[in-house]
Amino acid sequence: VSDPAPDRSLPGESDVIVLARRPGAALRPGDLVLERRPVRPAGPGEVVVHNVVTTVDPLQLRTLRGSTEIVAVNIGDPVAANSVGFVVQSQDPSAPVGTQVATYTGWQEYATTTLDPAEIADPALGDPLRWISLLGTTGVTAYVGMHEVGKVQAGHNVLVNAASGAVGGVAVQLAKAAGARVVAVAGGKDRVEHAVGTLGADAAVDYRDAAFAEHLAKAAGDGFDLFFDNVGGAQLTLGLSAMKDFGLVVLCGSVSGYAAAGERDALSDLRAAVFKRVTLRGFIVSDFYPQRLRAMREELSALANEGKVSQVITEFHGLARAPEVFASLFERGTSYLGRRVIRIGTD
Ligand SMILES: NC(=O)c1ccc[n+]([C@@H]2O[C@H](COP(=O)([O-])OP(=O)(O)OC[C@H]3O[C@@H](n4cnc5c(N)ncnc54)[C@H](OP(=O)(O)O)[C@@H]3O)[C@@H](O)[C@H]2O)c1
Repeated sequence: VSDPAPDRSLPGESDVIVLARRPGAALRPGDLVLERRPVRPAGPGEVVVHNVVTTVDPLQLRTLRGSTEIVAVNIGDPVAANSVGFVVQSQDPSAPVGTQVATYTGWQEYATTTLDPAEIADPALGDPLRWISLLGTTGVTAYVGMHEVGKVQAGHNVLVNAASGAVGGVAVQLAKAAGARVVAVAGGKDRVEHAVGTLGADAAVDYRDAAFAEHLAKAAGDGFDLFFDNVGGAQLTLGLSAMKDFGLVVLCGSVSGYAAAGERDALSDLRAAVFKRVTLRGFIVSDFYPQRLRAMREELSALANEGKVSQVITEFHGLARAPEVFASLFERGTSYLGRRVIRIGTD
C-alpha cells in the first residue's frame, strides 16, 4: 500500500460508512450504510486525509451500541476506527501535503480533521500496512500487555488466548522474542497450527475441542507465570486454574462478552485466583501513550526488521466490505488471521 499521490486534488465527495442504527445483540444488515458525502475543505489547523487502509476492532461494537469509552459515535456519524492515509490538503504546518498519518477517522475515504502529533506516522518506521497493524493499536497493545504490564521474562511460562487474532498474534511473538515458553489458545485446527507453525508458540490448544480443559491443563505444565487474556468468560476462569501461585493475569480484553448476548458470568468463580494468590491487572493501551508510544513503536519496528515479529494480516478490498469484516470478529471459525485490514479505494 502506498501513497496514491501524485494526484493531490481534493474530490468533491467521499465514500463514508455511517452508523444508521445502533446494533442490537449483534450487527444487522442496515445498521451501517455506505454513503457518498461532501468533503469539507481543511479549516485553520486542520488537514484533509486520504485514508488508504482501515481496520476493525472488537471494542467498536460497544462504541456502536452507545458506549463512549473510546469515542462517541452518534447516529449519522462516520464509523470511528483506526485508519492510515496521507494528507492531501493542509492548514497545519506540522503536517504538509503528503504526510503519512495514522488517525482514528475510520471508515471514510477522505476525512477532515485536526492531528495530534502522535498521529504523524513516520515512514521510516513503516508503511501503511505496518502502521495499521504492528505499529497501530493492536501491535502496541500487545507490547504494553506483554512488556509494560506483564513484564515478561526469559523462562516465563506464558498463556495467550485469541492467539491467531491481531493482538494475540503479536503477543505470542513478543513473548517468544523475550525467551518465554508460550502456550496459545485459538479456535479450530488451522488456527492452532498457525499459532505453532507461523507465530512460534511452543504449544497450542483448541478452545472449541470438547477436551479443551484437559488439553490446557496438560499444556500448562507446572503452571503459567503470565496469562495474557483477550477473551474473558469461560477462558479466563479456566486459565486461572492453570496459573502458578502468585502468577499475573493481564486483562487485555474480553471479546467473549462484548456482544449483548455474550458471556456475562466471567468472574462468578474466582476460587482459583484466591488459592493461587494471582494478581489480575487490567490496562488500557492509551495509558502508556504519551510517554512510551514512540519508543514502543521503534522497538516493534526493529523487531519486525530483524524478522523476530511478523505482521500477520488478512486483507480485504473496498470500504463496503468493512461491516462484514467487522462482524467476522465475533464469529467462531472464521479463516481470517491476524489484523483484518480493509484497503480503501480501488488500488
Ligand atoms: N486493553 C486495551 O487497551 C486493548 C486495546 C486493543 C484491543 N484490546 C482487546 O484485545 C482483544 C483482541 O483484539 P483484536 O483486535 O486482536 O481482535 P482479534 O483477536 O483479531 O479478533 C477476535 C478473535 O477473538 C476470538 N473470539 C471472538 N469471539 C470469541 C468468543 N466468544 N470466545 C472465544 N474467542 C472468541 C476469535 O478467535 P478464534 O478465531 O480463534 O476463535 C476471533 O478471531 C479484544 O478483547 C480487544 O478488545 C484491548
